[in-house]
Amino acid sequence: MTRLPVLVDTDPGLDDALAILLVLAHPGFALRGVTTLAGNIGLERTTANAGALLALAGRHDVPLHAGAGAPLMRAGVDEAAIHGADGLGGVALPVPVPARTGSAVHFLAEMLRAEPAGSLTLLCLGPLTNLAHLIRTAPDAARRIGRVVAMGGTIREPGNVGPMSEFNLAFDPEAADAVLRAALDLTLVPLDATRRVRASRDTVASLLAVASPLGQKAGEIIRAYFLDAATRESRPLHDPCVPLLLLRPDLFPAQTLRLRVDLSEGPDAGRLHVDPAGHPVRVALGADGEAALTLLVESLR
Ligand code: BDR
Ligand code: CA
Repeated sequence: MTRLPVLVDTDPGLDDALAILLVLAHPGFALRGVTTLAGNIGLERTTANAGALLALAGRHDVPLHAGAGAPLMRAGVDEAAIHGADGLGGVALPVPVPARTGSAVHFLAEMLRAEPAGSLTLLCLGPLTNLAHLIRTAPDAARRIGRVVAMGGTIREPGNVGPMSEFNLAFDPEAADAVLRAALDLTLVPLDATRRVRASRDTVASLLAVASPLGQKAGEIIRAYFLDAATRESRPLHDPCVPLLLLRPDLFPAQTLRLRVDLSEGPDAGRLHVDPAGHPVRVALGADGEAALTLLVESLR
């Protein structure tokens, strides 16, 4: 299998952690770097969490760089209720691989300039602040990105921040707007798709029983996702849908929609509007949840 060279931009976060473990475990990916930003929790913690996941996989060779500590213009949104005070629900992890010197944006720009144009795929699992900074400060490098696949937004599903707004875009609407305007090869994976891919307590049990340390840790991470949701039967696996879509696009029916980001203040901040004057974006509008979950669990075995 040819490995797809990928960069992961992330704010771990329980579901980010699962997506990173999938990228580390699956032979279809060659992880070329991880960049972090504030989102689910502050930058220091998201960076330490990403470093701890790399350490778990013994991947001290993967460059890790810290990025944006805050959205472009606004105060963030607090998600500690979902992801726990440490962002990973108290799951024990090894001593993190330390972040390297140099900002995430500088690292991304250098990588993109060094590799053949179009060869790197960027997986965005958090707010789009780092990518927006790259587009603004290094447009030549941003144009060399092969493809961006980003978890964010909602089209028809109710939001998880405002009535129709989703966390990653609501956290930094101006960044999302800059990314939509940049005419990149962008695929969005909104709640319409990610809420179809759900882990149950059976998923936890089957992962805890596997031999691989990454799989077992994934089981602990999903179990932690239930701690503040004891009455729920299942939990949505938002960020893993990004690598899952890259592995099996057929599981995520998609359409090209013209979209605009709501830049108002208040509950619609970051909302996506379908608008004939908007920017064309490939959008995953659903998912074969069962097949996607099976692929995740099998990959982590
Ligand atoms: C997104 O927001 C975060 O809480 C998750 O990590 C995911 O990236 C879901 O709306
Ligand atoms: Ca995330």
